[in-house]
Amino acid sequence: MADQASFNDSSWRSLDLPHDWSIEGAFSPTNPATNSGGSLPGGIGWYRKSFKIEGSLEGKKLFVEFDGVYMNSTVWINGQMLGTRPYGYATFQYDLSPFLKVGNNVIAVRVDNSRQPNSRWYSGSGIYRHVWLLETHEIRFEQDGTYFTTPVVSSAEATVKAQASLINESFESAMVEVKVNIYEASGLKVNEQTQTQLVAAKSSTTVTQQLKVTSPHLWSTEHPYLYKAVTEIYKDKKLLQSYTNNLGIRYYHFDTDKGFSLNGVSMKILGVCNHHDLGCLGSALNDRALERQLRILKNMGCNAIRTSHNPPAPELLDLCDKMGFLVMDEAFDCWYIGKTKYDFHRYFRKWHEIELHDMVVRDRSHPSVILWSIGNEIPEQGTPNGGHIARHLARIVRQNDTTRLITSALSSVVTANANGYSKALDVIGINYKVKWYDPQKKKYPKRLYIGSETTSAVASRGVYHAPANKLIYKSADLQCSDYDNCWVPWGNSAEEAWVAVKNRDFMSGLFVWTGFDYIGEPTPYNYPAVSSYFGIVDLCGFPKDPYYLYQSQWTSRPVLHLLPHWNWNAGDSVDVLAFTNCDEVKLYLNGQLVGSRNFTGTDKIHLAWKVAYVPGTLKAEGYKNNHLVKTDEVKTAGPAAQIQLIADTNLIHANATDLIFVTVKVNDANGVLVPNADQLIHFDLEGAGKIAGVDNGNSISLEPHKANQRKAFNGMCLVVIQSNGKNGNIKLKASAPGLESKELSLRAE
Ligand code: GAL
Repeated sequence: MADQASFNDSSWRSLDLPHDWSIEGAFSPTNPATNSGGSLPGGIGWYRKSFKIEGSLEGKKLFVEFDGVYMNSTVWINGQMLGTRPYGYATFQYDLSPFLKVGNNVIAVRVDNSRQPNSRWYSGSGIYRHVWLLETHEIRFEQDGTYFTTPVVSSAEATVKAQASLINESFESAMVEVKVNIYEASGLKVNEQTQTQLVAAKSSTTVTQQLKVTSPHLWSTEHPYLYKAVTEIYKDKKLLQSYTNNLGIRYYHFDTDKGFSLNGVSMKILGVCNHHDLGCLGSALNDRALERQLRILKNMGCNAIRTSHNPPAPELLDLCDKMGFLVMDEAFDCWYIGKTKYDFHRYFRKWHEIELHDMVVRDRSHPSVILWSIGNEIPEQGTPNGGHIARHLARIVRQNDTTRLITSALSSVVTANANGYSKALDVIGINYKVKWYDPQKKKYPKRLYIGSETTSAVASRGVYHAPANKLIYKSADLQCSDYDNCWVPWGNSAEEAWVAVKNRDFMSGLFVWTGFDYIGEPTPYNYPAVSSYFGIVDLCGFPKDPYYLYQSQWTSRPVLHLLPHWNWNAGDSVDVLAFTNCDEVKLYLNGQLVGSRNFTGTDKIHLAWKVAYVPGTLKAEGYKNNHLVKTDEVKTAGPAAQIQLIADTNLIHANATDLIFVTVKVNDANGVLVPNADQLIHFDLEGAGKIAGVDNGNSISLEPHKANQRKAFNGMCLVVIQSNGKNGNIKLKASAPGLESKELSLRAE
């Protein structure tokens, strides 16, 4: 058996972690994940890793830490079983020390994602997050044993509370020093403090210290200033362990009437919900891909992320700290009552305390985290014991952190009020149901409210179903319209959902479903639809049109975005929209004024025209206070003639993980995007890289994500190049029959 150290694995494939085997498989309607889970295969997988220990093991402690394995993992070291962890989103560690030997050691992991469906979205399968080998001592920090908060913050001074949980596994009590160092971003130390502590043999203790930071730089979404907090354990002047946390000094407040404020400044929480997959990379975590997602969202004006519906990769929170996002950290999509046959409800009784505790303890030092969510649309909202369970879960959270508020995303606030569930929460999260905002506020004026999940508008990039001012839900092409005129029966258009929150000060903010498209849940269609339409951004990271609606509302820079494309049939009457924050927009067709529009006398946040189509250039001019501040135009494209390649960087680290995202466009001879082009583009790659994935954002494409070709969808596709660990040049060539091919020169160092 593969759990035994002596097992011969020489015929096995060698791979790098993080890894997701499902994304390597083929879409099929018979895969048990169903199309809600992305129609990709699950199954059982094994991983083995050999490593050598040299010298002595005396006094050493070694742990293996998994940030996430989907799901039902069992881990062995040298044939000795260490444990099983059902929840696919848990971070957990095992002590390897008792079973290690000098020389060769083998860790074996069995991952069982065979019982499906167990998720309402694509989960991926395998060791899909990072794994760490921790070398430490018998006297050390507990898992996630350092905890930083900022109980008192003013512009003059902040108090930083530093808590360290220590464990002494040796047979002798020990006198140790716990030293906390605080560094500014420049690297300059701004304070340090040491406390001496006796830790009895075979026991644990907690050391709490308070440090001052004078004239602190405050952490905010606009200026996410981070200090570094380094906690060290010394014994007999010898450093035993050191751990670094991001430290953000900030305070926030939810007000019953005025909503949310950060560092005393009123603001809306402008959030999106996201699932964890990274499009064509599957759920295999890649730090660069995650950072790119956040960069795209930040550019839209988004300032918050809801980790729907599970604890995220730790790297997401590090990035949110660094890039300035607020986080609603969510534990569960179900409790005792499941939503799919094999989901976490089967393990909830035994594991919920551990999972909730571990999430809070792991994530409670991140300045980005402001809300803990104990669950999404939990069926127990409507059962007699729902209030009791909610109180029990809230208690577990508060035992481990009292500095954030507790919420839950409610789809049934009325029954949750009746059974006591709402009462267990600090912030009432309302999913959809805009019509409940005012009645709830009226009935419970002292409560705090957030749109924990809103909108569920569905769109396909570059697809336009007219008329633009009418809801068009399902269409024969299995696509959804990008005019913001397509949304699910329980949701709203992007415009409606945002305006409902914008116009109510007591609504502290919203989390739009979703920021990015994800694999699975292709509402409103069945197979061959395999990925979602909910994203404001498609699976490739290409913005759909409503992206600019949000950008025009959520940023203060001038925004003007004209849609749709300008390739129609002679005689068509085309609905033209502008997403803009200009006061007035003048629209010209081939130099002739079509009409001028402004927002006077309307509660709409977009402008609209009906234009009789003639080929050429449609141009919009945006004015603020009568000054031209922004223009945008769409042009009629001729026949597809050439490929355009746009790399998001030319240089990456030669570290076997770093990525280049190359946007591929099919253009006419003049360089205008051909809006319905669907050529199959072939990629040749040479040098110090490999193709990590391809995509086009088409939810009904069944083409494999691991391939060296992809059809364009509405004129565009994506190829992701990954360093292969070597230094050198990378050459990408893209070609398609009938099109002028293109080459890009890139480099890994
Ligand atoms: C919500 C649910 C989400 C997603 C969404 C689609 O009710 O919480 O997970 O399924 O619907 O509209």
